[in-house]
Amino acid sequence: MIGIFDSGVGGMTVAHAVEALLPQYQITYYGDLARTPYGSKSRETIIEYSIANTEFLLRHGAKIIIIACNSAASVASGILRQKYDVPIFEVITPAVNRAVTATVTGNIGVIGTRATIRSGIYEKKITEQAPGLHVFSKACPLLVPLVEEGWLNARETKMILRKYLTPLKLKQVDTLVLGCTHYPLLKEQILHRFGKKRTTLIDSSVEVALTLQQHLEENPALRESLQRNGENRYFVSDLTSAAVAIAAKIFGRQIDLAKVQS
Ligand code: DGL
Repeated sequence: MIGIFDSGVGGMTVAHAVEALLPQYQITYYGDLARTPYGSKSRETIIEYSIANTEFLLRHGAKIIIIACNSAASVASGILRQKYDVPIFEVITPAVNRAVTATVTGNIGVIGTRATIRSGIYEKKITEQAPGLHVFSKACPLLVPLVEEGWLNARETKMILRKYLTPLKLKQVDTLVLGCTHYPLLKEQILHRFGKKRTTLIDSSVEVALTLQQHLEENPALRESLQRNGENRYFVSDLTSAAVAIAAKIFGRQIDLAKVQS
């Protein structure tokens, strides 16, 4: 089984992309809704929560972990890889790989939570791969609560997006990394601000699913360890009507969210 976790519902964009590309494998999702958002918490707290989430998924039989949260991936992926014996995937590296090949102007924008942007992980990984590229980052702390509230098309959301995105637009960014798994829900609104023709949006949920697909093609033993023995499961540490509505929007069908403690 493939275990996927996020601080809330955003990582469901990853679960949905994995389900669409690799429907033969079973997924167990854990959304830590009781403690969301992670992006405004300290490094130590995010690490502590990431360990608890990983252990929850391992107890349920995960053979692979996907950290479907940039905030958690930016501070905890190294520690989780040291601590646990299963392959650990995260959303940042696949997005960086795609962004580096997609840009023409060499100006890449990254939007994310405070924790992700503060970690400097995107700049570091992008410039390690391609030292000549310029990275312009912007923390967008209000976007996660707006998505969690389901305010995708609200006038206020559009105004806040304009405020966050205008500085990046002025830098002639041609490739914009959605450095938070909540943001694919705002793709249309973001593209509208940037101009559809001029901007490549990098959606880490799709990129991590493609990376996992390739890894499984190259690792038959791991593939075999993943046999399906039931339906996909979606656990949350708190159950809200907003989460139920967003899950249905992401998957295009009703999703049974089960409330548990991590
Ligand atoms: N979905 C998480 C991410 O990718 C952000 C949510 C949060 O801040 O908790 O960073």
